[in-house]
Amino acid sequence: MWQPDRRADIPIYRQIASHMEGRIRGGEFPQGSLLPSERKLADMLRVNRTTVVQAYEELRSMGLVERAVGSGTKVVPAGSGGAISPNWRKYLEAGTFLPNVPAMRRIRSELRTEGAVIDFASGELHPELFPNETIRTLLKEKTFDGHLGYEDPQGFAPLRDSLSRFLRRYLNIEASESSLLLTSGSQQSLFLITQCLLSPGDAVAVEVPSYGRSLSLFESAGLKVIPLRADDQEGVDPDDVAELHRRHRLKMIFTNPNFQNPTGTVLSAERKQRLLDIAAERGIPIVEDDPFSLTAFDGTVPPPLRSMDAGGQVLYVGSLSKIAASGLRIGWLAAPHSIVSKLADARQQMDFGLSAIPQWVAAELLDSPGFGRHLAELRRKLAFKLDSLRAALDYHLPGEVGYRVPEGGLNLWAKWNERPANADRLFEQAIREGVVYVPGSVYGSGPDFFRLCFARPADDRIEEGVAKLAAAYRTASRF
Ligand SMILES: Cc1ncc(COP(=O)(O)O)c(C=O)c1O
Repeated sequence: MWQPDRRADIPIYRQIASHMEGRIRGGEFPQGSLLPSERKLADMLRVNRTTVVQAYEELRSMGLVERAVGSGTKVVPAGSGGAISPNWRKYLEAGTFLPNVPAMRRIRSELRTEGAVIDFASGELHPELFPNETIRTLLKEKTFDGHLGYEDPQGFAPLRDSLSRFLRRYLNIEASESSLLLTSGSQQSLFLITQCLLSPGDAVAVEVPSYGRSLSLFESAGLKVIPLRADDQEGVDPDDVAELHRRHRLKMIFTNPNFQNPTGTVLSAERKQRLLDIAAERGIPIVEDDPFSLTAFDGTVPPPLRSMDAGGQVLYVGSLSKIAASGLRIGWLAAPHSIVSKLADARQQMDFGLSAIPQWVAAELLDSPGFGRHLAELRRKLAFKLDSLRAALDYHLPGEVGYRVPEGGLNLWAKWNERPANADRLFEQAIREGVVYVPGSVYGSGPDFFRLCFARPADDRIEEGVAKLAAAYRTASRF
């Protein structure tokens, strides 16, 4: 993100004014739109609010904005002989994508300024947990000698080979390279499935609470989302699926059986088998979203549904995001070849496939001896972070927060023992104190639940973050 140059001779407010002028003239802030509030811009640029006030006054003197107390700083019409600027509001209301849920947008905007708040919200690894050393070594020792033309939309063949070996070795999953589609994270697999295999009006069962429930993806595709209750001890009850199917004729089931996000539960082997049987008897495909299995802290990986699936009914979605690095944007779908072909064809229409370079890096990473060591190290570090979080919660919020201790994954699903009077206010107060988490409502749960991702904050900020959360809770209880 742009920052003023503090060593330059030009006063900082002038630099800000000319930066904002460029953004306005470049069409980023069309006429009628509001510029960021003075406080927000000051935070983003790490300057005094008065510096931003000076910058905005400069823009006003140039005739670019108008300012009114209480209604912010607004871009005024360019005033150039009869030009009609597009009615962006109309366009913004069009299109098929619904916006993300408001709490997620709020979190994203708070996290834009690096280090401003302690982050228990992003479901990601802390950068120190990425396999940085392994990647550095392989980039030094290997050279990319593939071609840089359009890649096969099904994905870089050497990565599909590596992945096929990886899935067999670590997850007991048999998937040949022709049954694998490489995607830009699991998210794209979920998107392609909803867009290419389902039609508006189709009923799909989605766990509640769940990551799936936090996505607007299903609703954007016009699907009828049928909640499948997942309790925070044992996960979903497969017999509920039978009942939901009887009532709604389910077209698909979306589940995250291992270290479920957000509850951290693992569906027992018996429940997994029963779920497979119930779905098989009714011919319902199951989408297994499985980003966390390999984080099992003690190294005992719970079997994915797909490893138990004799009938080919599981569409298996995986990713490197939670076990290596989310920014690599490498995910995969293991599915019958006809499904993979159809999705790859759609993929080609969308973007001609993933860039070859990160796919090459991922292939080398999975094949490197360092990757097994990385996984072992990752598990150890995740368990340590979880312990730190538990200790901090027990110290700063004794008896006030309950939680179930997960055995893998990145998240702790927590519950206020006394329901907060106003969960939205508590969330805002926590941001004011300098900490963010994800409110339970995002996952379809009540106001007493919230998710803390222990993988994201640095080790030495976990306790500080919980202290801030406790302060927010105490202040919000007085409202
Ligand atoms: C359960 C689950 N599925 C899928 C994703 C998407 O991850 P990615 O697209 O980075 O693989 C996430 C991310 O938080 C997740 O928690």
